[in-house]
Amino acid sequence: MENVTIFTHPLIQHKISILRKKETGTNEFRSLIEEIAMLMGYEALRDLPLEDVEVETPIETCMTPFLAGKKLAVVPILRAGLGMVNGILALVPSAKVGHIGLYRDEVTHEPHEYYCKLPSPIDQRIIVVTDPMLATGGSAVEAVDFIKQHGGKSIKFMAIIAAPEGLKRLHEAHPDIQIYVGHVDRCLNENAYICPGLGDAGDRIFGTK
Ligand code: PRP
Ligand code: URA
Repeated sequence: MENVTIFTHPLIQHKISILRKKETGTNEFRSLIEEIAMLMGYEALRDLPLEDVEVETPIETCMTPFLAGKKLAVVPILRAGLGMVNGILALVPSAKVGHIGLYRDEVTHEPHEYYCKLPSPIDQRIIVVTDPMLATGGSAVEAVDFIKQHGGKSIKFMAIIAAPEGLKRLHEAHPDIQIYVGHVDRCLNENAYICPGLGDAGDRIFGTK
């Protein structure tokens, strides 16, 4: 699929496997989500634009590349996407951070919006949307719809685990965005949870439930 990157790096796969274990506790889970986001972000941001700027080294003056354009926007889908933000900020500390609050209805599995705030101006920024879980794809599609309605153009979506159904739905709804996934799992169960997955990412990051 064009614009879809599925990671195969052994460090990412190893860390995802630890995430899956039900005995992995909140502290370790949180650290791993952040580390995986950083490893995925390193690759996902390889096309950031550069511009040459003159710099004086202790030896001589030279032209050397710096990141160009408006600062990156990282936009986590609350709550679980928050867990990935520091991983991206470790790479690009000057990034701005927006938030999109969505929760899935437990019966219909449809996303409901409860909070949205994006850095301004959003239209000139590269936007990295984070959410560890891409299940039915409903939340991801709604988040990207919202960002586009507000003028967002250059959008990257990062998920740690995806179900094939959700990946297809997001790609079909938004074929122009770049999607990065750490692993594609087998399927969704009757409660729209990813199998084998890792359970409820938000609850495991924040120690709720
Ligand atoms: C989870 C997850 C995604 C969404 C994925 O969030 O973090 O946002 O479900 O499911 P979908 O692809 O079927 O929309 P949830 O709604 O449980 O909220 P939380 O992060 O606050 O726990
Ligand atoms: N949200 C999660 O946190 N986990 C899933 O498996 C599906 C949606």
